Amino acid sequence: MTEKQTDTAQYTLVVRNMNVYYGAFRAINNVSLNIERNKITALIGPSGCGKSTVLRSLNRMNDLVNGARVEGEVLFHEQNLYANDVDAVEVRRRIGMVFQKPNPFPKSIYDNIAFGPRINGWKGTKSEMDDLVERCLRQAALWDDVKDKLKESGLALSGGQQQRLCIARALAVEPEVILMDEPCSALDPISTLKIEELMMELRQRYTIAIVTHNMQQAARASDYTAFFLMNDQRAGELVEYGPTGDLFTNPKDKRTEDYITGRFG
Ligand SMILES: Nc1ncnc2c1ncn2[C@@H]1O[C@H](COP(=O)(O)OP(=O)(O)OP(=O)(O)O)[C@@H](O)[C@H]1O
Ligand SMILES: [Mg+2]
Repeated sequence: MTEKQTDTAQYTLVVRNMNVYYGAFRAINNVSLNIERNKITALIGPSGCGKSTVLRSLNRMNDLVNGARVEGEVLFHEQNLYANDVDAVEVRRRIGMVFQKPNPFPKSIYDNIAFGPRINGWKGTKSEMDDLVERCLRQAALWDDVKDKLKESGLALSGGQQQRLCIARALAVEPEVILMDEPCSALDPISTLKIEELMMELRQRYTIAIVTHNMQQAARASDYTAFFLMNDQRAGELVEYGPTGDLFTNPKDKRTEDYITGRFG
């Protein structure tokens, strides 16, 4: 087996020598990282170290930021997502994203889920769409909360429910990967635990990468953890990456240890 085949069997995304710039400013310096299939990978590190930038570069969401430029490779099924002939819209369908602040569309719960499939040219029947909506809401652990009010606005739900609706909406276009940028930071502890349980369920079918400021969350709910810091030029670098248990109990780098024990200045 060649190295490339081994990579793609085990890893959903292979990042090689990634640099990200905003104009002339280099925000990310030479990051290489393999994201394991059907696992949860947490990205941690202090504010400004580039976690969101790395995450957004995994599905070409950073293309939408004015002046942003990505160098290096992100391989997905052996295909470099930054190659010339790759359709960024299709990339974002296959690698979905959930944001920090729940952002349901100002539409009914049902239409929030149906929207993505419809704009992707859905050809099924009404009852097939009903099934899809139910399946996504069940997968997002929201069905029991909303099954009697599917025609009501998504904005009328609680914050935690809205975030689960956004996850259900992401699932509706059948992605392989779900990227989450601090999905729980606007939520209370109970809703947060619900999202973590949900992630652990979803990992059976999807690959998940999550940015979190919450160290307990990374320790509790991820399989792998990547720790980032800024270098002297304020560019984010990957300091340490490995199984979450190892990184939290036996960090290899002194800087990781300082950060996870709260000694970081
Ligand atoms: N749209 C942008 N234009 C210019 N610079 C940006 C932009 N977005 C981020 N940056 C810069 O890139 C660097 C990394 O930012 P990023 O948002 O990725 O960090 P982060 O680790 O997600 O921080 P936080 O924990 O505060 O969310 C920072 O120096 C930031 O100022
Ligand atoms: Mg961020």
